[in-house]
Amino acid sequence: MWQFDSHANKTFGKRFKNPVPDSESLALGSAVSLNLRVPSSVLAIANQKGGVGKTTTSVNLAACLAVAEKRVLLMDLDPQANATSGFGFEKVEGASSYRPLLGEGDLAEKIQRTAYDRLDLIPSEPDMCGAEIEISRMEDHVMRLRTALKPIRDADRYDFIIIDCPPALGILTLNIFAASDWLLVPLQCEYYSLEGVSMISRILNQLKETGVNPNLELLGVVMTMFDGRTRLAQQVVAEVRNHFGDRVFDTVIPRTTRLAEAPSFGKPIIYYDKYSVGAAAYEVLTQEVLSRLKA
Ligand SMILES: Nc1ncnc2c1ncn2[C@@H]1O[C@H](COP(=O)(O)OP(=O)(O)OP(=O)(O)O)[C@@H](O)[C@H]1O
Ligand SMILES: [Mg+2]
Repeated sequence: MWQFDSHANKTFGKRFKNPVPDSESLALGSAVSLNLRVPSSVLAIANQKGGVGKTTTSVNLAACLAVAEKRVLLMDLDPQANATSGFGFEKVEGASSYRPLLGEGDLAEKIQRTAYDRLDLIPSEPDMCGAEIEISRMEDHVMRLRTALKPIRDADRYDFIIIDCPPALGILTLNIFAASDWLLVPLQCEYYSLEGVSMISRILNQLKETGVNPNLELLGVVMTMFDGRTRLAQQVVAEVRNHFGDRVFDTVIPRTTRLAEAPSFGKPIIYYDKYSVGAAAYEVLTQEVLSRLKA
């Protein structure tokens, strides 16, 4: 079961009270500007359980954040490359972050513009599964992504970098955790859903204890694929709220055919069916994310 230690609770509360100001708010009038660069916030969308809505949440949150005027980079780090195809991109050999993670070439060169304003993508490719093995043989094997991402973060090019994680807790996911500020966990409204997060909780504590990334915090848990007609779904939501308290987002993502269809058209839901309940749910979730981050 997921447990939060009081330290994590305190840190979590503190980060919310002291949001990082954006670069505009640091401008002191037209003549004086501190000209400070604020690194992007990196959000990992993770759950080692498969098929819980990680990719659907990554793609749609990224798209909604861009609509909300935020500059967004979506990184697909899952060898399945579902977020890549969800944006209508082909899975092209050599287009992913695979080589830069091995120290070959610049990660920024892999950035591609999408059809949507303020929204870029670093695609994945099936070969990424080879990265697991190759990276694990390297020095600093947990820090590869953090190092590769640093110039992009520091360049003040994006407000948010959203990372779609694979359904595993292997080297790639550890790299993502080491490189991220926030963790957002989609939880499917089903009986065994809580099992999927127990491991992540342990990993979070280990990242703190080992110093790999003591700053990674849980931004929140989002319940996905909610079917209000079943009593089970309602019970699961109640149980999860009981367990996680206010870390569970108020927004619950409904199970809808439109959300499942959208990736086959290579579009986020707000472009596939703007007035659907799925689009509305992800828009409201985005507002919640922004208000939690005071962004
Ligand atoms: N709210 C929803 N309503 C209906 N279908 C959904 C919803 N969210 C996701 N799906 C569908 O469920 C399947 C799994 O979703 P998704 O790919 O987002 O999960 P995932 O956690 O990324 O999976 P994996 O672990 O394999 O990467 C997909 O076919 C997706 O289209
Ligand atoms: Mg996925």
